[in-house]
Amino acid sequence: MNFIINIQQNMKKIYLFLAAIASLVGCSPKNDARGAVNHEKCLVVYYSQTGATAKVAQEISRQTGIDTLRIEAEYPYNGNFNETIARCQKEMADSILPKLATFDKDIAAYDTIFFGYPIWFGTYAPPVASLIKSGALDGKVIIPFCTFGSGGLEASVAHLKEAVKEAKVLDGYGVRNARVDKSKDEIKEFLIGCGFVEGKIAERPDFSEQHPIGDEEKAIFAKACGDYPMPIGTPVSACKRTMGDTTEYLFTVNSKSMDGSTASAKVYITVAKDEQPEFTRVVR
Ligand SMILES: Cc1cc2nc3c(=O)[nH]c(=O)nc-3n(C[C@H](O)[C@H](O)[C@H](O)COP(=O)(O)O)c2cc1C
Repeated sequence: MNFIINIQQNMKKIYLFLAAIASLVGCSPKNDARGAVNHEKCLVVYYSQTGATAKVAQEISRQTGIDTLRIEAEYPYNGNFNETIARCQKEMADSILPKLATFDKDIAAYDTIFFGYPIWFGTYAPPVASLIKSGALDGKVIIPFCTFGSGGLEASVAHLKEAVKEAKVLDGYGVRNARVDKSKDEIKEFLIGCGFVEGKIAERPDFSEQHPIGDEEKAIFAKACGDYPMPIGTPVSACKRTMGDTTEYLFTVNSKSMDGSTASAKVYITVAKDEQPEFTRVVR
């Protein structure tokens, strides 16, 4: 009899030990976690109107093996830029969020969501707001990614943190639509950073001290931002850092915020050897 009780007690200890291990090998990556991710419990969920965010979603899926789910509005936003702006403005004035078309995966079955969207009006696009409002993302680990004309990662992540209940929202990744086709290496670093892919992130030196800009930096800023259809602002100071053949500039600009008031913004510009300067993002 004692022998059977001993076996039962030992089984219980083994069970508790295995349960403890299982709880460690869950799907809850931290920004600095490595490995130990159960990809079966992860899903790439995204909205994309014109395909830029879809490309990033597919690349995340290709590099991690995680399935994707594309969400769509029941009445899709398939007009051109101006028509989409007009429709959104009307919906915002009427406090309407779009209904979503049905989708074929049960988000409740996943713990961790790579969550992708285009930036519209400085934040995530309305179909994303609809999904958030449905509660489907509540309590999950959310890893945001977005594409934009000029910027919006930081503001949209701050909005996600406020809007998704009891979720853990990581810092995320954002890329200009004009640079999506060159973003594979950046996406890899992003995935390494959140623990989904093995590898090393390149070390980056600190930026130099900010200083008032001179003529050479004015010219770099003009080359990088001059063709952008919206005003980006007037550069006042800059600092930089060099990594191999590439120099990254961080300009401080005087600009206007969404409500028209004067604001300061940060503009990141990269200058690679033998290439035209490109701005990579604006942080407002
Ligand atoms: C209605 C609308 C509003 C937009 N608002 C912004 C914005 O505030 N800031 C920005 O940088 N880009 C803005 N964009 C540009 C999109 O974020 C950009 O084109 C994005 O890469 C599109 O992604 P998609 O191809 O996945 O739809 C806007 C585009 C649309 C259609």
